[in-house]
Amino acid sequence: MLTGTERSRNIPLSCLHEIHRLVGAHPRPVTALHVGEPYIRMPEEAVEGYCRALRDGHTAYLGARGLGALHEALAERLEDNGKPSPDRVFVTPGSCQAISAILQSIAVDGGEVILSELHWPMHFQQVTMTGMTTRFAPFGDGRSVTEALDACASDRVVAILVNSPGNPSGQVWTEAELREVHAWAVRRRVLVISDEAYEDFVFDGEPCRMANLDLELPPEDRVVFSVHTFSKGHSMTGCRLGYATAPNDDRAALLTRVQEATLVAPSTPVQYAGLAALGATAHLTEHHAYVRGTRDAVVDLLGDKLVHLAPAGGWYVLVDLGAFTGDTYLFSKQVLADIDVGIAPGRGFLPEGHPTADRLVRLTLCAERESTLDGVRRLTAYL
Ligand SMILES: Cc1ncc(COP(=O)(O)O)c(C=O)c1O
Repeated sequence: MLTGTERSRNIPLSCLHEIHRLVGAHPRPVTALHVGEPYIRMPEEAVEGYCRALRDGHTAYLGARGLGALHEALAERLEDNGKPSPDRVFVTPGSCQAISAILQSIAVDGGEVILSELHWPMHFQQVTMTGMTTRFAPFGDGRSVTEALDACASDRVVAILVNSPGNPSGQVWTEAELREVHAWAVRRRVLVISDEAYEDFVFDGEPCRMANLDLELPPEDRVVFSVHTFSKGHSMTGCRLGYATAPNDDRAALLTRVQEATLVAPSTPVQYAGLAALGATAHLTEHHAYVRGTRDAVVDLLGDKLVHLAPAGGWYVLVDLGAFTGDTYLFSKQVLADIDVGIAPGRGFLPEGHPTADRLVRLTLCAERESTLDGVRRLTAYL
């Protein structure tokens, strides 16, 4: 047998998963500020859509790209975000799988993908899984977006992954910043993956409409894959339903090959649930308002000294504990052991050895408000 290092061995383990496991094994109930699991339950319309699909016998395989009626409805939802034709929309089992499949469809040997220094660990893991490597752009350190991209440019870069609103940063990119990313990518013939999982939770600023920037180009020159999910706005985390659009027919054909080789098809009844969820617009308004209210209260409780970046969107706030510890990974374990509060250490969200990695922790804003505030009060008292 050929020996060598399996690609899977290179996937970095995320310390988020370790905290998750520790919380699972904790002997007492835990106030969970370390994970994004929404308090607001999925819309009743979606529950009904799922049950009806089962009762009506919609249990057979569909094609790898998903249910036609859902493509049409999603293309309509994205009318103001890239105007994709339904045949460039892919329904996926969660948006994680969409990102993974897109990366596989664009991977080339020796290729590199640019991520923000502050990033969601799964993005890094997924790039590694394809055999490509990551370059980290120092966005937000005072340089312009173009300068940050220039600082990590190479001839091997095949894509930039942008996540707005960001996990864990809570940052919302301005249209001017998105334009800089897009112009840089087009100039260098690099693709863009726009992860818009938290698009329904923009509190300050404008939602990301990266794919609109592509409309100024002929189809063959378009660069933006845009990625969305039912997990966040529609609270359907466990249903595993996401979707993505490809920039043109060629990219769509390659992504179809990956999905056909991987999936067979996304769950049929879950897609009917998604179709029904799209009609539940009041749910999105309610959910947005709830998380926004929690954000305001949590940011208020923490105060300027502890909030690392004021979250303009998304489900999380980054807290700077540099005045209290030089190792937030150990500190997170200690907080769990001593006061039964789960918090996510910053180490997983930054490149190894980054100077702020051991100062930061991430707290969630999407859980039940009173228990979240109680957890934050206990944490600040502990500090
Ligand atoms: C930035 C980001 N993208 C994508 C996802 C994936 O969500 P899902 O696979 O549930 O659609 C998450 C989930 O936490 C996330 O934080």
